[in-house]
Amino acid sequence: MSLIKPHGSDELNPLFVYDPAENEALQKKAEKMVSVVVSSAAAANAVMLGGGYFNPLTGYMNKADALSVANGMKTTSGLFWPVPVVNMLHAANGIKAGDTIALKDPNREGNPILAVMDVQAVEEFSDAEIELICEKVYRPNHKEVHPGVDTFKAEGKVILSGPIKVLNFSYFQDEFPDTFRTAVEIRNEIAERGWKKVVAFQTRNPMHLAHEELCHMAMDRLGCDGLVIHMLLGKLKKGDIPAPVRDAAIRKMVELYFAKNSAMVTGYGFDMLYAGPREAVLHAVFRQNMGATHFIVGRDHAGVGDHYGAFDAQTIFDNEVPAGALKIEIFKADHTAYSKKLGKVVMMSEAPGHVKEDFVLLSGTKVREMLGQGIEPPKEFSRPEVAQILIQYYQSLPK
Ligand code: ADX
Repeated sequence: MSLIKPHGSDELNPLFVYDPAENEALQKKAEKMVSVVVSSAAAANAVMLGGGYFNPLTGYMNKADALSVANGMKTTSGLFWPVPVVNMLHAANGIKAGDTIALKDPNREGNPILAVMDVQAVEEFSDAEIELICEKVYRPNHKEVHPGVDTFKAEGKVILSGPIKVLNFSYFQDEFPDTFRTAVEIRNEIAERGWKKVVAFQTRNPMHLAHEELCHMAMDRLGCDGLVIHMLLGKLKKGDIPAPVRDAAIRKMVELYFAKNSAMVTGYGFDMLYAGPREAVLHAVFRQNMGATHFIVGRDHAGVGDHYGAFDAQTIFDNEVPAGALKIEIFKADHTAYSKKLGKVVMMSEAPGHVKEDFVLLSGTKVREMLGQGIEPPKEFSRPEVAQILIQYYQSLPK
């Protein structure tokens, strides 16, 4: 049996220039081109396009496509896509349609060239269009700051669209050699392992017991051959745990508490959008592209603050994603927590006769406080080995 098909095409079409001679030649040519240092979001889009995660897109969307995607989750040609993939700047800097330009990396010392772009259009969003995209994609509650909206609005309103060729994977390959993987690599590894049913787990946090058990539940209930833990390695909001710490904690958990060869620990190079439901759909698209057949969406997936209902990222798949738009299936999970009555982690909806006090529930703030003071959370909440890695991190922070 062959793997699940990518989104929108029969074969995966990564935009990375794999042939070393071709890559080197293009790099040389690019050094003489007009260049622009792009936003971190645009650079992350290039890394995702390069690795095949954003298949079948061939580059950055134009204004009409970005607005069409924001409004109705499809491009003007009808391709299902949940989030605009754009390259926005504060000024066009003389760049015009027809130019071939070098895109420089804002996230690496000296801004090396990341990709080459054939500019098909240079357009500008109006303020109203920027607002519309924010409303539709990020769905902020307007009561508190939305970090994704702030980042998006800071990128500028000039939009460059057109196909790209990607020359490297930014800082991700150097900084996370064991964890950063392209969709191409993950697909290949799934095929090599002979996994047929594969569930993917998105995370931007260290995994506590509830997350670990959520993965086990999904694997057991779906009858999966394997799990791909797929962590975000790009930019996060202040206060979130940096990727190297998360990576170490997750690797320790997998080493100790997962059957050998049942879980792959991997990551992808993208900045967190905090776009809740829309981001959950984007997550599903690129997990299909990497070869997962199932994708876990739990409580407040990709959420931030109080912007989304706890299960909005699940209902969007029922109410807004057209039937057949995606081949990957969603494993919808209720809030998981340790039940003192049952002596194990359960989905709260599957624990009859329980009241809140019957579960071990700790707020993020409380957990951070404990770890900062060198206190291990209860073993019903965190594996001690994971807690130790997090304690070390919190204690290394300037007080
Ligand atoms: S996210 O922004 O990447 O979604 P996080 O790493 O916290 O954040 O969550 C990873 C996945 O686990 C998401 O699908 C989320 O919904 C799910 N999740 C996290 N905590 C719980 C929980 N206690 N119960 C159920 N699902 C959870």
